[in-house]
Amino acid sequence: MGRRNQTVVSEFLLLGLPIEPLQQDLFYALFLVMYLTTVLGNLLIIVLIQLDPHLHTPMYLFLSNLSFSDLCFSSVTIPRLLQNMQSQDTSIPYAACLTQMYFFLLFAGLESFLLVVMAYDRYVTICFPLHYASIMSPKLCLCLVALSWLLTIVGSLSHTLLMALLSFCADHVIPHFFCDMPALLKLACSDVQVNEMMIFIMGGLVIILPFLLIFLSYVQIVSSTLKVPSSRSIRKAFSTCGSHLSMVSLFYGTIIGLYLCPSTDNSTVKETVMTVMYTVVTSMLNPFIYSFRN
Ligand SMILES: *[C@@H]1O[C@H](CO)[C@@H](O)[C@H](O)[C@H]1NC(C)=O
Repeated sequence: MGRRNQTVVSEFLLLGLPIEPLQQDLFYALFLVMYLTTVLGNLLIIVLIQLDPHLHTPMYLFLSNLSFSDLCFSSVTIPRLLQNMQSQDTSIPYAACLTQMYFFLLFAGLESFLLVVMAYDRYVTICFPLHYASIMSPKLCLCLVALSWLLTIVGSLSHTLLMALLSFCADHVIPHFFCDMPALLKLACSDVQVNEMMIFIMGGLVIILPFLLIFLSYVQIVSSTLKVPSSRSIRKAFSTCGSHLSMVSLFYGTIIGLYLCPSTDNSTVKETVMTVMYTVVTSMLNPFIYSFRN
């Protein structure tokens, strides 16, 4: 139809964080410190777990996988953000934008599935302590991790391919600090119905279903703890699950607040703060939440 009149967008402009120019340096330093903390903290966890054979238990191997995922997740967005804060040119080529979106979805999904796998691990620990070793065999652990990768690769690939089919016209300004899928969809000038349906289905599979599974495993854990309530069993449940529970609340709390309860008044500041919460802060805090416990 009117395709020929449209200028094909070859790059996008990232508007970045909604902060005053005067505070730019402060926030640059803040994000740099947060990013370095994330990288070092998560690397330390991975190295420690790999080096110590005592820590080659399912729980720690999953944790090491989660740290790897956190490391990659923050590396998808933060280095680019830091670079953009320093330079005048905040454009990002079309292909780079889609690539960023792909990896963002990939590691967000991986994080979500790994949290489910860890919840299952906690559930078996508390509810079937005697059969733990035979249930959580190395083979099952490997299968669970592989399945998480497979599901998230398929999911993020399908989102990205659907996005690549859309055409973008004159408007190419992304009011965000990375190529977020909802922000890109708003710019598209072709029909986004299929994409939105896909977000709805995948959102259910990647966010809601994992959240429900985690919730279910905690219901089981709590009811099994309360069956024979003793201060010892309660303490045990709390010490095995406390750190996992705090990560789950941080990760799903912000995502659900952001995507399922969207603000009516279009407040970009609030949205950006919450996105920063789950992209930067969660990845940064995970190592500390776990080291604190041990
Ligand atoms: C991830 O988990 C698998 C299965 O438990 C384990 O074999 C692997 O070493 C872990 N990978 C990392 C990077 O920790």
